[in-house]
Amino acid sequence: MKRIAVMTSGGDAPGMNAAIRAVTRTAVQHGIEVLGIRQGFAGLMKSNFVHLSARDVGGIIEIGGTILESARSHEFRTPEGKQKAVAALADVGAEGVIVIGGNGSQTGALSLSELGVAVNGVASTIDNDLPGSEITIGVDTAMNTALDAIDRLRTTASSLGRVFVVEVMGRDCGYLALAVGIAGGAEVVVCPESPVPIEKVIERINQSRGRGKRYALIVVAEGVKGYANCLHQALISDQACAEFDSRLTVLGHVQRGGRPSAFDRLLATRLAASATERLIAGETGMLVGLIGGAPAASRLRDVLTRSKPLPAELIQLADTMRI
Ligand code: F6P
Repeated sequence: MKRIAVMTSGGDAPGMNAAIRAVTRTAVQHGIEVLGIRQGFAGLMKSNFVHLSARDVGGIIEIGGTILESARSHEFRTPEGKQKAVAALADVGAEGVIVIGGNGSQTGALSLSELGVAVNGVASTIDNDLPGSEITIGVDTAMNTALDAIDRLRTTASSLGRVFVVEVMGRDCGYLALAVGIAGGAEVVVCPESPVPIEKVIERINQSRGRGKRYALIVVAEGVKGYANCLHQALISDQACAEFDSRLTVLGHVQRGGRPSAFDRLLATRLAASATERLIAGETGMLVGLIGGAPAASRLRDVLTRSKPLPAELIQLADTMRI
């Protein structure tokens, strides 16, 4: 193998730069040249390559986002788009590709693999919804960013005796909301995997007031579409909750930004180095994630047909801790 390519795709996640750095330096150690693909699959179809040396990836490990930029591409999903991508790789003599990203990006990686391209994926998304990795790159940083915001909301909630409804990212997965809800001491956590009717939330808030609590934090996963706003409206209109004024905070993309945590830098370096070593050794069509505390490879085809359930233990804990 003389030359490989690397891309980041889909939603950016803190730690992606550490992964780009690890792919590049691992390949260079083997005497293999690295091409960065700018703007994900959209850039690949346009042959948007940039040469990456070991020095080019210096001083990026601590930076959020991705130096290669990212994109969500509809064209790549068409047969013509996929052929363009395969041709672009062949034109520059890239003998293998590493795709750093989440579900959609790894679906793209699988398409390339089915067209005969040697490709491995690196599990990277703040949503933590990829089977094949117990935790994905970016989750830890996003969790800490959301938690910092929730800690701040708690101080103002307690000063004025209010309810804060906080919507947390995660696409259709409730992991981020559940983890942050437990770590942030939420009264109730509402996830797609463990929905709670609005009347029940109001009942719990009122019960908590009866137990002497002056304020409450309710964490809602964005995957429960429209729920956070409906709950907030119900709280400000519900007579039984008149003593608790409600405010709605949507954390949104702030959770995707910022410096990656030590955990994410280390995870990204381990997973990306392992995915590259495997590619060079001829093991392809795999997603590299963290299993049992170590980098491990699972077939992309298997991973993308499974779903990743939330740990029942965490759902139970969120409920136990609210007394
Ligand atoms: O997949 C990461 C993520 O941040 C999700 O949590 C969210 O639903 C989505 O991306 C937002 O996508 P976009 O950045 O395209 O608005």
